[in-house]
Amino acid sequence: MWGGRFAEGPSAIMREINASIPFDKLLWRQDIAASKAHVAMLAACKIVSEDDAATITGGLDAVAAEYASDGVPEDWDLEDIHMTTEARLAEIVGPVAGRLHTARSRNDQVATDFRLWVRDETDALVDALTGLQRALVNRAGEHAGTIMPGFTHLQTAQPVTLGHHLMAYYEMIGRDLSRFRDARVRLNQSPLGSAALAGTGFPIDREMTAQALGFDGPTSNSLDAVSDRDFALDFLGSASQCALHLSRLAEEFVIWASQPFGFVRMPDTLSTGSSIMPQKKNPDAAELVRGHAGRIVGCQMALMMTMKGLPLAYSKDMQDDKPPVFEAAALLQLCVAAMTGMIDGADFREDRMRQAAELGYATATDLADWLVREADIPFREAHHITGAAVKLAERKSAALDELSLEELQAIDERIDERVYAALSVEASVAARNSYGGTAPEQVRARVAEARSKSGME
Ligand code: ARG
Repeated sequence: MWGGRFAEGPSAIMREINASIPFDKLLWRQDIAASKAHVAMLAACKIVSEDDAATITGGLDAVAAEYASDGVPEDWDLEDIHMTTEARLAEIVGPVAGRLHTARSRNDQVATDFRLWVRDETDALVDALTGLQRALVNRAGEHAGTIMPGFTHLQTAQPVTLGHHLMAYYEMIGRDLSRFRDARVRLNQSPLGSAALAGTGFPIDREMTAQALGFDGPTSNSLDAVSDRDFALDFLGSASQCALHLSRLAEEFVIWASQPFGFVRMPDTLSTGSSIMPQKKNPDAAELVRGHAGRIVGCQMALMMTMKGLPLAYSKDMQDDKPPVFEAAALLQLCVAAMTGMIDGADFREDRMRQAAELGYATATDLADWLVREADIPFREAHHITGAAVKLAERKSAALDELSLEELQAIDERIDERVYAALSVEASVAARNSYGGTAPEQVRARVAEARSKSGME
């Protein structure tokens, strides 16, 4: 494709280091679509004849049909998907294929293809994440009143509801969705027609190709357009943040599924056994989501490092932009699917959660709050009195509400029998009815809002 000025062909090393076809063949659909839009525009602008454009378009459809049925051939001499497609087109339609590359360079071509690919993947992830949100909302609605211990420092803190806990992840995924959608807005401009770096002397119509490819319009600066990979970094940034959320959720499952916790039985379909220990059922899918999150963040770092020192405009380093984006997208899709399956299929053990909530003095804050409310004691003093009650209960290996009234009154005589109503875990969660709090009433309201907002029902 470029042999004219060379006396010798590339060495084997050059061919190998230069070839991107092993990975950028993933762009074939976008490459064909962009070429068809380009040639239609060349004809409309009378840069190629209608006949030639029709021949080229038919040829591109034929190449696409071959790719769809037989896969994309990997010939290192043809470097990348763009040259591979053009070479095959030439075999099918003859020398007229050479007219396709008028007023275009691989630099604007690859920038266009890659944007289209990232846009498709963004749309697919938005769908998948919406499905995960739906699963979270369904299970949260089911468990709006299921009581479990809430933790800080992974130490029992206050009772919460499982529905509230699951809806926390609904919120995180909501922010992830907004990041992906926001990135898509910035991405959606067409580099096509920027040519190698400076634009072109041909009378092209960039609005026309932009529109044909579903972009909002053409990019405004040809140098920027061929050297910008912000859209890929935005995607990886959104993917990393999302992967961190999935990793935290996965970690909760790993903890909850462990025998000392026993809060959840994992679906068999997302667990594995051990070749030596017959009793084992391991949460491998959750662990791999946690592991994959690290790789996804690594992909983001990889592309940031690739881009950080590149002068304008295109440099071949930028060919390395694709593997981390492809890898992160595939890993994230898998992670979202695994977590959706886990949420859908988890057997939450309400008995174990409730038992755990009753241990660990989760309602100590409720005792302190009661002293403030009913006995008009300043909170700091109430905190101290409650601490003494917990110390006594711990010494007796009893729950707070198993202490007798005499024992409580020995700590502070202002306590009376009404306190027991405040010490139950039900009373504790029901009391936290502030907007966004853990009370079942609040959880049901948030679930209803989520359902009406996204048309789930
Ligand atoms: N395979 C190349 C890439 O992915 C296409 C652009 C090549 N451009 C060039 N000037 N060599 O970046």
